[in-house]
Amino acid sequence: MTRPLSRLLVTGGCGFIGSAFIRRLFGREDFTGSVVNLDLLTYAGNPANLDGAVDPERYTFVHGDIADAACVSDVMTSHNIDTVVNFAAETHVDRSIHGPGAFLRSNYEGTFVLLQACRESGAHFHQISTDEVFGSLGDDGAFAEGDPFAPNSPYAATKAGADHLVRAWHHTYGVSVTVSHCSNNYGPCQFPEKLIPLMLLNALGGKPLPVYGDGGNVRDWLHVDDHGDAVLAILRGADAGTSWNIGGRCERTNLQVLGALLDAVAEQAPRDRDALESLITFVADRPGHDWRYAVDCSRIEAELGWAPQVEFSEGLKSTVRWYLEHPEWVEGVRSGVYRQWLERNYTQRSE
Ligand code: NAD
Ligand code: DAU
Repeated sequence: MTRPLSRLLVTGGCGFIGSAFIRRLFGREDFTGSVVNLDLLTYAGNPANLDGAVDPERYTFVHGDIADAACVSDVMTSHNIDTVVNFAAETHVDRSIHGPGAFLRSNYEGTFVLLQACRESGAHFHQISTDEVFGSLGDDGAFAEGDPFAPNSPYAATKAGADHLVRAWHHTYGVSVTVSHCSNNYGPCQFPEKLIPLMLLNALGGKPLPVYGDGGNVRDWLHVDDHGDAVLAILRGADAGTSWNIGGRCERTNLQVLGALLDAVAEQAPRDRDALESLITFVADRPGHDWRYAVDCSRIEAELGWAPQVEFSEGLKSTVRWYLEHPEWVEGVRSGVYRQWLERNYTQRSE
């Protein structure tokens, strides 16, 4: 199985992982296709993530909502899309606890709209899902493909619901689909609400570092570039109707992650390590906080030849370096500067 990947629709391509995927695509000599990036530019979407990284002859940005059927249909038809990769979503678990409505619209209804468009056009559909659909693990074991879904947060429930739609659209209507379930990503351009960039920017600013509960919760960390390569391997080589787990083989407690991050900040910023340590503040736990995620990614390694390449402490150091070298990005995110970019530069808006 080799998909041509000629005319891609990447949704959510101004976000953290979608933008890394597009940068990765345009960085490859063997990618000769074109990309349409459909992004609503929520608070998490930042066009600056793609500055200088795309070939303008082969790239189009469309400002729009994946849950807007007319907009999606127009993009699919006018660009003759053959492959859809759906990164667009509301993604922050804490936000889903306080305001789940937007998650239902973007994550569930949006996936429905995209699936309908693929059903109509015959395009292949890849869903970027999450390991959180499988729920929480105890101290042992790892999620495998085919494990039952047991989502615990509103975010995870909408992602699991979307996965069910994907399965049903394949089974009932014969839509060509693939799904990937990835663990926690880190790297450049991550919005500073997620653990690593939030702690990094707070540490640089001498602000408290809020650790939920006792900091013993475990996540499996993967560099965002490795995620992009895994998605590409699936798009190119996986049979329709298959789902794939992607993980970093890198389980760490939140306190371990924070310790490694503070080491990197102390060395590179530089800052006094003890002063950084004193910023750690234990705060009330996240409601329904999943205890542990771990992903068994042996199948994608064996069948598609993908494996994580970026070693965690090296990836963390390069991530710290990226944030230190891009103060304008941090300032832009803080002040919403990219919204001015939006007013000047978008090529199409659906009303
Ligand atoms: P992000 O929050 O950084 O970016 C999301 C992007 O989607 C933004 O650009 C936003 O503007 C856009 N968007 C949101 N709603 C939209 C809509 N209705 N229509 C069009 N665009 C919309 O997210 P991320 O961390 O890059 O995550 C990307 C995908 O990967 C998500 O589907 C998420 O569930 C999944 N995922 C994330 C992680 C992680 O660690 N961040 C891990 C596994 C899977
Ligand atoms: O596992 C994949 C998922 O990883 C993705 O599907 C989600 O989109 C992504 O946000 C991420 O979810 P988490 O909830 O694991 O990520 P977050 O960065 O919010 O939190 C990571 C861990 O750190 C978690 O145990 C909660 C804890 N935490 C987080 C924040 C923001 C803190 O202790 N303090 C904090 O301030």
